[in-house]
Amino acid sequence: MEKSIDPIGIFDSGIGGLTVAQAIAKALPLEAITYLGDRARCPYGDRSSAEVARFSLEIGEYLVGLGVKCLVVACNTATAVALPLLREALPIPVVGVIEPGARAAVQASETGRIGVIGTSVTIASHAYRQSIHAISPDAHVVEHACPAFVPLVEAGRFNGPEVEQAVRASLRVFESTGIDCLVLGCTHYPLLSEVIEQVVGPSVKVISSADATAAYVANLLQEKRVANRDASARRYRYLTTGDKQSMKTALNQWFGQAVEEDAITHVALPEAAQRLTQSVRL
Ligand code: DGL
Repeated sequence: MEKSIDPIGIFDSGIGGLTVAQAIAKALPLEAITYLGDRARCPYGDRSSAEVARFSLEIGEYLVGLGVKCLVVACNTATAVALPLLREALPIPVVGVIEPGARAAVQASETGRIGVIGTSVTIASHAYRQSIHAISPDAHVVEHACPAFVPLVEAGRFNGPEVEQAVRASLRVFESTGIDCLVLGCTHYPLLSEVIEQVVGPSVKVISSADATAAYVANLLQEKRVANRDASARRYRYLTTGDKQSMKTALNQWFGQAVEEDAITHVALPEAAQRLTQSVRL
């Protein structure tokens, strides 16, 4: 069978990575996508790096077993702690979201003063700072963890007083920093972007890595000569470690996608996790 018709594998701890999946579907309308949301173990951002790395390897291996032709780590937390491990362990190209996001921020910033928000694991890793400095060594990067945001998004709360209060409290640290752009360093955060944009005001550009990552994937498929050439094999499959019904609600109501229940599959992964703990040294 031709590799080009195989799906692109995408994963996240939950529904946040759907923001990246949507951008990929838009940029690459002929491609099939298999998306896995590890909602049973979400959030990743408060876990240890070793645990996130283990989950990521387990999911990567699982998706390779399903025949995906490349893997998009649509999770900044997993990208921050597991990208090199995934690249080493898996026999397919692996794309993270941090480098594309960092590049988009450097391009968008006029002053070189860049804010980054993400989960506690992502911020503690300083992966964005390193990635931004690799492109623009003189950039001034202010990083801040916003652990309150992911639970709000997973619960479908994208606006309203509770969200406004959480966003205002979390972003106060940027008030006198003079940043002119703010990177949403977590794929869940674009779902809060309306409130985030309101809070930071028009002088701060709000950057998500979704479009930049999609452009990166498009180039990669061309380069590896595995881009799909017609839409006949296009199929979107959604896998969740949580319950199917809430995944369906998320897709239908929050992402406006008319997805039938047979496109959603529940997967259980703990066995693979045990096997990997024994065989992979983190
Ligand atoms: N959406 C993920 C990220 O980009 C993970 C959020 C979480 O599970 O804490 O970091």
